[in-house]
Amino acid sequence: MNEQRVFSGVQPTGNLHLGNYLGAITKFVALQQDYDCIYCVVDLHAITQDREIWGGPEGLRSSTRQVTAAFLAAGVDAEKHIIFNQSQVCAHSELAWIFNCVARIGWLNRMTQFKEKAGKHRENASVGLYAYPTLMAADILAYRATHVPVGEDQKQHLELARNIAQKFNVDFAESAAERGYPDGFFPLPEPLIGETAARIMSLRDGEKKMSKSDPSDMSRINLTDDADAIAKKIRKAKTDPEPLPSELEGLEERAEARNLVGIYAALADQTSAQVLEEHGGATFATFKAALAELAIEKLAPVNAEMRRLMADPGHIDAILTDGARRAREIADPNMNIIKDIVGF
Ligand code: ADP
Ligand code: NA
Repeated sequence: MNEQRVFSGVQPTGNLHLGNYLGAITKFVALQQDYDCIYCVVDLHAITQDREIWGGPEGLRSSTRQVTAAFLAAGVDAEKHIIFNQSQVCAHSELAWIFNCVARIGWLNRMTQFKEKAGKHRENASVGLYAYPTLMAADILAYRATHVPVGEDQKQHLELARNIAQKFNVDFAESAAERGYPDGFFPLPEPLIGETAARIMSLRDGEKKMSKSDPSDMSRINLTDDADAIAKKIRKAKTDPEPLPSELEGLEERAEARNLVGIYAALADQTSAQVLEEHGGATFATFKAALAELAIEKLAPVNAEMRRLMADPGHIDAILTDGARRAREIADPNMNIIKDIVGF
């Protein structure tokens, strides 16, 4: 297959943060040059978790619009590419069921994100949370996407999607070949994991990733935070007492310092080494002030544009409806072939 298609998604679970922005959304924007891109607000994924996390029906609707606004504000082009929400295209759920019957329980048992998200109350986690990776495989493969930009945290799920694609191709090799797909129907999707910002950590704990579901709001910079909130969170970010080193080696064993330098680098579009060249020797008081200034400069326009877009929910909904229609034009014919291959 020659076509290079990108698919990726973000959950509408509220609190869109700097990790989502630098680790995912800004990369979505950059990929538009070289690929046909489909960016999905994955609302079916959102309801796999507790209702407090996704906020109930009103919370879900509003977060869906917020993620859409963030895509648009960051610079995703909804006319050249596709932005839509997952629940509007049936192919996702339908293909996920087929993949539930392709994937093995042993494969899902190895998923670390389920263990982290289910925590101690595994027996009480939803079946959907457990099956999350088969739905993610369906999201990607319903479009036969070839590339998937994700943060480090999603690497294991993408590996599983490849295994599912591979097993389907082998299990139905003959049937697919008879229908004109001698190499199997699905491509094996490749991860696109950026060198910078693949893993932005919590501002309160350098061992934990910055996350929407962290109960401490001081742990993350939300895309809706105003300049004062951003400055305060950076000022209060956990650090050690040493000044910044001038070389990368000096950041080993210093998770919090490494994270702040990494955030600076991603915002400034530099490498961490370049940041240290400029700021090596600075105290954290000085460096944090520079970081806050940069973060505010970069995020303020995104924040303002999100607010402007959110003030007109009808416009956002129209973009999602149009995106869903165009997504169906790709996914539905694929689904017809997939069902024919299976024997439905
Ligand atoms: P969360 O993990 O906060 O619930 P999602 O699962 O919706 O957010 O993730 C959306 C995208 O943002 C994914 O591509 C994910 O890899 C990326 N992402 C999430 N958290 C981070 C982080 N702390 N650093 C870098 N990328 C992240
Ligand atoms: Na995630």
